[in-house]
Amino acid sequence: MGARTYQGKERYPHLLSPIRIGNLRLKNRIIAAPSSPGMIDTNGHMTHAMQAYLETKAKGGAAVVTYGESIVHSTTGKQHNMQMQLDSYGNRQGLKECAEAIHRAGAYANIQLSHGGKYAGLASVGGDEDKEGRIAYGPSHEITPVGEVQEMPRELIYEIIESYGKGAALVKDCGFDMVQVHAAHGWLFSQFLSPVMNKRTDEFGGSLENRARFLLLALDAVRKAVGPRFPIEIRLSGDDMMKNGLGEKDCIEVAKMVDDKVDLINVSCGNHEDPEMFCRTHPSAFWPRGVNVYLAAGIKKHVKTPVACVGSLNDPAQMEHIIASGQADIVELGRALVADPEIPNKAMHDQADDITPCLRCYECFGEIVKSEMIKCTVNPIIGHELEEKYGHKAPERSKKVLIVGGGPGGMEAAIVASSRGHEVTLCEKSSVLGGNLHPAGAAYFKEDIVKLTGVLERRLKRSGAKVMLNTEVTPDLIRELNPDALIVAIGSREWKPGFIPGIDRPNVVMAIDAEMHPEKLGRKVVIMGGGLVGGEAAISFRHEGHDVTIVEMKDKIAGEVNSFYRGGLMPQIEKAATCCVNTTVKEILPDGVRVSRDGEEFVIQADTVVCALGFRTDDQTVDALTAEVDENYIIGDCRNVGIIYHAMSQAYDAAMML
Ligand SMILES: Cc1cc2nc3c(=O)[nH]c(=O)nc-3n(C[C@H](O)[C@H](O)[C@H](O)COP(=O)(O)O)c2cc1C
Repeated sequence: MGARTYQGKERYPHLLSPIRIGNLRLKNRIIAAPSSPGMIDTNGHMTHAMQAYLETKAKGGAAVVTYGESIVHSTTGKQHNMQMQLDSYGNRQGLKECAEAIHRAGAYANIQLSHGGKYAGLASVGGDEDKEGRIAYGPSHEITPVGEVQEMPRELIYEIIESYGKGAALVKDCGFDMVQVHAAHGWLFSQFLSPVMNKRTDEFGGSLENRARFLLLALDAVRKAVGPRFPIEIRLSGDDMMKNGLGEKDCIEVAKMVDDKVDLINVSCGNHEDPEMFCRTHPSAFWPRGVNVYLAAGIKKHVKTPVACVGSLNDPAQMEHIIASGQADIVELGRALVADPEIPNKAMHDQADDITPCLRCYECFGEIVKSEMIKCTVNPIIGHELEEKYGHKAPERSKKVLIVGGGPGGMEAAIVASSRGHEVTLCEKSSVLGGNLHPAGAAYFKEDIVKLTGVLERRLKRSGAKVMLNTEVTPDLIRELNPDALIVAIGSREWKPGFIPGIDRPNVVMAIDAEMHPEKLGRKVVIMGGGLVGGEAAISFRHEGHDVTIVEMKDKIAGEVNSFYRGGLMPQIEKAATCCVNTTVKEILPDGVRVSRDGEEFVIQADTVVCALGFRTDDQTVDALTAEVDENYIIGDCRNVGIIYHAMSQAYDAAMML
């Protein structure tokens, strides 16, 4: 009997069992789903930052790490600003280094061969707005609100088929162990498969067989290039979820057509280019975790090839169940591994309670669109793996560190500072840790935030930091404790505009109070302020049976929210509340609010008025505290009102600077 040291294997025997895919033996059933989060240079080549990002996922224990959209024919197929271009001269070194980095960390290297189809010539979600001079080629001629699409000529179809073969040969040469052909999410092959988008009358249009021809010929070209047994994965839709589109039954037929041509069928769904559908392809918190697994299970019944599922999976127990119950053979994890690349290792060592949960906030995508690199609300390291690899000097000495505030920033700072050998005391004014994570996690769709609070609390406990609850830190207390360094993380205060007549009436409830004590709300609720807090509160209050109206001065609800999260959020807000934009509250009345819009005044009836007008920093307190200690750091909301990301990442940076 050999050594058996992985305790998680007893709890997750199926998830952690090996599987053979083509000529590979995967060590477990977890694949890092394709991701292409920027960090590509302007020639379309891999950067060292990207290699380090992928290497980190491999170190986390996934059996296979997949790099995302790599464009096989870049003059017609590149839909985003920063994409890997497989036909760009000089890309071999970066690819080789990338495959080797993944190998060195114990995983197989996989890469997705892709083409954006018509979106390569149109402005796409998160894509390049400037498509000057580029022609959008799709299956059929189309005039869309963002430009004209040309029917792809047959010669171009055959040229692209050839480029799939060339791309596959190139990545195999450069050391990749697997390739994935992208035939989902609304890109080229999805467009051809779609009865809505493909209106051709030649052999590439009409029947499903004809619409699948392009894909099948490309798969043949890839097979010819890589040879037998080299694993080819295909990413298919289980349902493209478009009206009259490629439904479940058709997707099963497509899976049957590719069954003999591929070694793994990865079943996703939806469309990248439809903001609401994006939140199904990458399921939002409004969907249960694993919402798309049934599509993989449906296909699995009809094919002999192993099947992978994907979609907001992050709990090893759920993944174990999916595999044990035969719904899929493999699970693919996207955002979960951005939030915590160590999930496979944590499953192996039976440490599921230490998994940092992805909040499904889409800040990862939001950042890619803004800056062509990734960030994560709950993982300060993501996007900075290179600095982690070569960066941080050990602290010169262990310091006495005082942290003021036990919200997410304070907790993260204490955990990281303790791990670097400092002697940490964290003081929290209230009787509980978590700060604003509590109201933020109160809504029924915010269970991820509740989980995050628990994970941070457990880590803090294990860290050895001393925690003092019910302790308000004053300059006197700082003098008494005499720390070497101070981290101020006291959060912010809700803003209550004194100039609105009636703001102190008993029917006014502040947003945090309302989230934490919904029993204070009457049936009819008006929310003043339609930012993220007000918008999410509306959904939550409606869920509890209230009749909700949002009053917002600006022309948009949740206008500050990243466009991806907003795409999933807005349909929920619209279902939950009457939204009055460009509307200003003039006065709070005993039975409602008097508002003005376009110079006209009217009253909206309400039993309760919820004030969700934002937060303000408490600069005076911050100044008084920081005046006491020369080495001080101000993090999170008390530095600048922001989001959880700011608190967590500033906390990490401060703790690393100590
Ligand atoms: C930052 C990021 C980049 C992604 N890039 C790609 C990509 O290039 N190709 C692709 O097919 N899917 C891409 N995806 C989608 C994932 O592969 C996955 O299907 C999706 O995120 C749903 O899984 P999840 O809920 O576990 O995140 C990306 C996801 C993320 C988070």
